[in-house]
Amino acid sequence: MRIIFFAGKGGVGKTSMAAATGIQAAESGRRTVIMSLDVAHSLSDIFDLENGLLDRNRGRPIKVGKNLWIQELDIQEEISKNWGDIYKYFSLLLNTTGLDEILAEELAILPGMEEVSLLLYINRYAREKKYDVIILDCAPTGESLRFISIPTTLEWYIKKIFRMERTIARVVRPVAKRIYDIPLPTDDYFAAIENLFKRLQGVDEILADPEITTVRLVANPEKIVLKETQRAFMYFCLYRMNIDGIIMNRIIPREVKDRYFDGWRENQKRYLDRAKSYFSPIPIFPVDLFRSEILGYESLRDLARKVYGDRDPLDRFFEGAPYSLTKDNGEYRLAIKLPFLTKKDVELNKISDELIVRVGSHKQHILLPRQVAAMDTVTATLEGRDLLVRFGGEHHEQGKE
Ligand SMILES: Nc1ncnc2c1ncn2[C@@H]1O[C@H](COP(=O)(O)OP(=O)(O)OP(=O)(O)O)[C@@H](O)[C@H]1O
Ligand SMILES: [Mg+2]
Repeated sequence: MRIIFFAGKGGVGKTSMAAATGIQAAESGRRTVIMSLDVAHSLSDIFDLENGLLDRNRGRPIKVGKNLWIQELDIQEEISKNWGDIYKYFSLLLNTTGLDEILAEELAILPGMEEVSLLLYINRYAREKKYDVIILDCAPTGESLRFISIPTTLEWYIKKIFRMERTIARVVRPVAKRIYDIPLPTDDYFAAIENLFKRLQGVDEILADPEITTVRLVANPEKIVLKETQRAFMYFCLYRMNIDGIIMNRIIPREVKDRYFDGWRENQKRYLDRAKSYFSPIPIFPVDLFRSEILGYESLRDLARKVYGDRDPLDRFFEGAPYSLTKDNGEYRLAIKLPFLTKKDVELNKISDELIVRVGSHKQHILLPRQVAAMDTVTATLEGRDLLVRFGGEHHEQGKE
């Protein structure tokens, strides 16, 4: 079983890479499903499917080739399958607070429902061994980060909040009914949440297991895209997901001689070099800009060949995390693997949300997650081959440094 995430900033080429990788996996004989949450249905567009097919299929997998399926979730279907009592409660709640019924139904789709539905599928497919490969075409960075944080958040919610809320509701319900018009959740609601949680159990382990799941970040050699990619990189590390490749897409090919693109070429070279230094030792996969947009099976297959060459796209291209970020007793610990190094070789600088680690002439920029960047003190020690950076003290407002 293999699960590969394709994540990155909006528009960088995630869907194309996911589809191309899926095609190559299926052609090597593995049963492959490519999944997405995209309401724009880019996956079926990129495979050039007719729209009617999609409507009839209501979010179930559609076969698009030998060993190959695509699945684009349909939130309305998922609601009726997975969210019945939870959804009912929220639309009732919104409706009694004076909202129009249709609007209330629309708003009762809570953020996270779609993501949880996708996690349910992943968990089920992994357990039923229905597919050998699951490829995930993720939403742009921000949303996909919420997605990977869901198992941890839910665990916390169930353990710390849920049982308490349930007890309170049971006690308060008879009284509240007489005093307020607002309905309190019934026991069905709580039972539904508990049941959902049960069906999600274990999915976090699947996602954090480097033998099964890896993340490939898609980027373009441009300043802002690179910055977001660095940030995504750290967050995926924070959630213990293993990144095994950075795909640098849309590089202007050498054979383009037009002087008009000179500036672009220079820029791209600079950011490509920078990416190598940022993400080393994770391999970078450069991919040229095609002559036209990438549509249909043939050009996707061509894309896969450009990305992976002779390599098996299901290989793990990098094993072991270059960083690990953990939290212990209110203190964040960042461990960075830096081979061949002695203490006096290392120089650390923290500027705003960026940690700059200089080792000899090699400089690494690490973008810190917000909570980590907001800590007061930074100390570093060498432990074995790891440079251990500790962030401690109080959180403080950013920008006042
Ligand atoms: N190497 C490339 N050469 C030419 N066109 C490309 C290349 N990579 C992607 N494209 C085109 O760029 C457009 C955006 O790509 P794609 O839909 O894969 O990006 P995305 O990251 O999934 O976007 P979104 O964030 O909107 O989901 C598509 O039209 C695609 O065909
Ligand atoms: Mg897309």
